[in-house]
Amino acid sequence: MRTPTPEDKFSFGLWTVGWTGTDPFGTSTRPALDPWEYADKLAELGAWGITFHDNDVFPFDATPEVRRDRIAQLRDVADKSGLTIEMVTTNTFTHPLFKDGGLTANDRSVRRFGLRKVLDAVDIAADCGASTFVMWGGREGAEYDSSKDLYAALERYKEGLDTVAGYIKSQGYDLKIGLEPKPNEPRGDIFLPSIGHALALIADLDHGDIVGLNPEVGHEQMANLNYTHGIAQALFSNKLFHIDLNGQKGLKYDQDLVFGHGDLLSAFFTVDLLVNGFPYSPNAPRYDGPVHFDYKPSRTEGMQGIWDSAKANMETYLMLADKARAFRADPEVDKLMKENAVDQLAIPTIAEGESLEDFRSNVEEFDADAAGAREYRFVELYQAALRHLIG
Ligand code: GCO
Ligand code: MN
Ligand code: MN
Ligand code: MN
Repeated sequence: MRTPTPEDKFSFGLWTVGWTGTDPFGTSTRPALDPWEYADKLAELGAWGITFHDNDVFPFDATPEVRRDRIAQLRDVADKSGLTIEMVTTNTFTHPLFKDGGLTANDRSVRRFGLRKVLDAVDIAADCGASTFVMWGGREGAEYDSSKDLYAALERYKEGLDTVAGYIKSQGYDLKIGLEPKPNEPRGDIFLPSIGHALALIADLDHGDIVGLNPEVGHEQMANLNYTHGIAQALFSNKLFHIDLNGQKGLKYDQDLVFGHGDLLSAFFTVDLLVNGFPYSPNAPRYDGPVHFDYKPSRTEGMQGIWDSAKANMETYLMLADKARAFRADPEVDKLMKENAVDQLAIPTIAEGESLEDFRSNVEEFDADAAGAREYRFVELYQAALRHLIG
């Protein structure tokens, strides 16, 4: 593969390559390195950026001095190796205190602790020059419907998000919040289970202007939803602030496979949208943020496997990007798109200046049977993509 360059804007969570393989059934299969060791190696592989949770860098109970030292050490390595710390997030899920949530725990003292921890992480993000602050509410949710006042839970979620967003503004930080939806795991049901749910809550926030989405491939697919459609709607609302790319094979636990190692055709159309934009909507928002991978090197892999899989994410993306560009540049594809009226969808249904009265009275010739008999060749168009992908 061609070596990734900073222009590719590939970035990795330190918790991804740093996952030691612990799962509910077994202990670690790999040793833990210091965060800066992973950072160094990622830079060597051509990554442009890194991201982390507060507790990927310092332990939960670290003193202020230890926190400061460890963040400083990471920043130093990042500076020397030319890595951008593009996103920071908070761990509000590992410690048992968070077992019923951070911002939406029934226990108010937990919420007060959780919110302070998030605000502390916002300061770290700003110090490190990050542009996005991700909020994945992994433990915000429930196993039992009887355990929550669901209205109050949403009120507390809103209160928490508005507090964090308001704080960012009051400090003048150049940070935006990316909410990360997920349907379940670790909770039986997580609040904000999909991109659409998150968009709806954002619309109800007081400081929603700096709150958007960080959608993850696998999380939408765990809900049986189409990731490309999801990020398209986030773009439509100007809310695609960040992305988590990985792979997932259907309705299972959160697999966090390498990007493309799940639904490859879906990954192709995701990359097509990211690199080419919408085909006939030139004024639509485009995503130009980091290409961030949130995957896990499988537990079977050793240290070599960490770097094999990190490279595989970038390689897959680059291969798909080349193929997506060739797909769009293919005159045959262009012809098929037009034959199938893909371009026509961008034309408003009611003409500019046409009154509703005119629209309803000036009924043009329309042959309902002919429209019903029209042949679409969507299959052939999709097969053209497949030819580019594996032909
Ligand atoms: C998951 C999530 C997390 C988040 C991370 C950053 O494990 O399902 O995707 O990896 O992305 O906590 O907020
Ligand atoms: Mn995960
Ligand atoms: Mn995941
Ligand atoms: Mn994620």
